[in-house]
Amino acid sequence: MKCVVAAAVIGCAAVAGLDGVAGAQTRASSRLAVTPPMGWNSWNHFANKVDDKTIRAEADAMVSSGMRDAGYVYINIDDTWEGTRDAEGRIHPNSKFPDMKALADYVHSKGLKLGIYSSPGAKTCAGYEGSLGHEQQDADTYASWGIDYLKYDLCSYTKELREQAGHDHAKSQQVMETVYLKMHDALARTGRPIVLSLCQYGWEAVWRWGADAGGNLWRTSGDIEDNYARMSEIGFAQAGLSKYAGPGHWNDPDMLEVGNGGMNENEYRTHMSLWAMLAAPLLAGNDLTTMSPETLAILTNRDVIAIDQDKLGRQGDRVAAEGPLEVWARPLANGDKAIAIFNRWTMPLTMTFDLKTAGVNGSVKLYDIWAKKDLGTFSGMYTTAVVPPHGVILLRAE
Ligand code: GLA
Repeated sequence: MKCVVAAAVIGCAAVAGLDGVAGAQTRASSRLAVTPPMGWNSWNHFANKVDDKTIRAEADAMVSSGMRDAGYVYINIDDTWEGTRDAEGRIHPNSKFPDMKALADYVHSKGLKLGIYSSPGAKTCAGYEGSLGHEQQDADTYASWGIDYLKYDLCSYTKELREQAGHDHAKSQQVMETVYLKMHDALARTGRPIVLSLCQYGWEAVWRWGADAGGNLWRTSGDIEDNYARMSEIGFAQAGLSKYAGPGHWNDPDMLEVGNGGMNENEYRTHMSLWAMLAAPLLAGNDLTTMSPETLAILTNRDVIAIDQDKLGRQGDRVAAEGPLEVWARPLANGDKAIAIFNRWTMPLTMTFDLKTAGVNGSVKLYDIWAKKDLGTFSGMYTTAVVPPHGVILLRAE
């Protein structure tokens, strides 16, 4: 039995396999992605300018920066790695990736895991070769390379979807479930534990059926952008989705933009805090080789990561709102509560709310995570310090 221990994630080839491919077992394995996946993805920063050298450099930086030890494990290659198929139909990477197996070996040698990207359609979103008609062959190829994670992006399959389902929503859901389950089963047949990430932009309320279609995570929205308006639009729209997440199957509000330059420090803290409250996958999307100490501090804050990765796996939700102020809460495995107070306005504000709405009964000790400060013992109504514009106060209630 071959076991790989990387930071907090333990994967054992003989025990962490998928649940098989028959009947009710054709579902997301709860033995993969037991906590929300953490890692890095090439798309947000590099888009099509990603190659073997970039991936190796990001893997190196993941280790040297301390991010691996903080829990970030997956190095995920997004779109534009794909080349053409040979006479047998086997997919090959394009010239940017001379040897995918060697790259996987390199990433694994660092105690990290390698992810890749494809589409159920004939073409990916960037117009490269998709997996349509080659699902099992591609799954086998990925497994032979040593791939640990697949992001499967609907892209050009939208055309087939429209042809088969038109505007019939039930049919549309059924068609998408079928193509995702097909890849899930193909991956399961390889015998290699490979996390399956569904990317179809949240269509037909995928949170209701993503796990049944074999997804360990599913995008709940269209693409994120590196600005507060889009990040907060997606993040706060996750209210009400908490009941659909749990160990092995997570809502995915898209990858992180922390450190890409389009938001200020308060906004990036909001981004990171909100994603942690949402038990969201934490896939950094910046260039790890050049990041600032401030970016690294946000991405590796141990107390924030502990909330995201909490073993109970209960996603947080909105419990109170007053104009642009929102309070979100999340129960944690040891009985503590995570409480986030967000200010969506452009002026500083304080918030007063009843701690009971955050699930706190009696008196609790409050710890301010970003300020790294014990605040004292409180009960009942609580008034926060000033929450900066677009900022957050993230508390742990013990
Ligand atoms: C879609 C996805 C993005 C990214 C690109 C790549 O837009 O939602 O996350 O993977 O495709 O082409």
